[in-house]
Amino acid sequence: MPGRPFLQIPGPTLVPERVMRAMAQAVIDHRGPTFGALVHDCLAGLKDVFQTTRGQIVLYPGSGTGAWEAALVNTLSPGDRALACVNGHFSTGFAKTAAAYGIEVERLEVAYGEGVPADRVAARLAADTAHELRAVLVVHNETSTGVTSGVAAVRAALDGSGHPALLLVDTVSSLASIDFKFDAWGVDVALTGPQKGLMLPPGMAILAVSERALTASEKAKCPRAFWDWQPVLERNRRGEFPYTPATVLLFGLREALAMLHEEGLANVFARHARLAEACRRAVQALGLAILCRKPEEYSNTLTAVVMPHGFDSDAFIRHAAQRLDMSLGVGLGAVKGTVFRIGHLGSLNELELLGGLAGVELMLKDFGVPIRLGAGVTAAEEFLLA
Ligand SMILES: Cc1ncc(COP(=O)(O)O)c(C=O)c1O
Repeated sequence: MPGRPFLQIPGPTLVPERVMRAMAQAVIDHRGPTFGALVHDCLAGLKDVFQTTRGQIVLYPGSGTGAWEAALVNTLSPGDRALACVNGHFSTGFAKTAAAYGIEVERLEVAYGEGVPADRVAARLAADTAHELRAVLVVHNETSTGVTSGVAAVRAALDGSGHPALLLVDTVSSLASIDFKFDAWGVDVALTGPQKGLMLPPGMAILAVSERALTASEKAKCPRAFWDWQPVLERNRRGEFPYTPATVLLFGLREALAMLHEEGLANVFARHARLAEACRRAVQALGLAILCRKPEEYSNTLTAVVMPHGFDSDAFIRHAAQRLDMSLGVGLGAVKGTVFRIGHLGSLNELELLGGLAGVELMLKDFGVPIRLGAGVTAAEEFLLA
């Protein structure tokens, strides 16, 4: 099909030309003379994006799932208790990864479409007077439901009860798109992948790690080899890796970080907020429901749309892919077949979003959903012009 494919999923996102060009070069020697500067630039740029001066960055080849594992095995021991806030498919995955390592996971169950309730977290922490809970697991932006949780409020819950548990936060679909403050929110490990706000192809696991997490890692007994962050931190300081890193992706990462720096993080967040609001207006004007229940928890990186009763979202997504070469996010976990997700993050502008929304409208109509063509795009345009 001519033209570009519309990758309207919530990651991987579109890779900017600049980043593609930065990666289109010969593979270099990762022990050679130019590699150290590349590592240094990537680590420094990532610190800015995590909004940390105190935290350390750890980079691995991998993916977000690997980053979960890295965060857990370096800080916890089998038999430790952890409170996992579970409000969707990805927070379920984070909790299951912990359980796989023998961590006693206590799930704080939250309905799909809702954010992590800081008051319930606070109550649980206050009840844990013996401080048996060693960590609290939170997904900042639950990509399966389009819900952003208040990490600062979870920090306040920990501080309020004087609880020493580590705060481990998944920022896979929020970092570099939605405001995330590693230092200010007292996060101990934040983890992410490169394929969303960082505008790269998939292939890395990226962590920011606090001093407390580093200290915890000295006693943590979970088995680890590849994910052991100690050798990575040590060799990174010398501009090296303890194994062959994803050199080409690092070229792309340096360029993507430069682009984020040029735009300015505050502007990046504002752009995402604006495009997200335009998308939500479009969805609402089409008479469709947004899965996220509370407007203050709406995600600025994706919108999960509830398919009208009687229509299968998986079949709808297949139809859009075949007819328009447009990829929409499928419903995951408990909302499989009933939700589709529109990604609006990463390297995206107004016109691209409008193209995606036009595609959604077109396909809904074609699929038999009773909507008025143009209603969604018009609502988005009116918002963008106002
Ligand atoms: C919030 C969140 N966490 C973790 C993951 C897993 O990341 P990956 O697919 O890169 O392993 C994803 C993937 O979309 C995600 O959205």
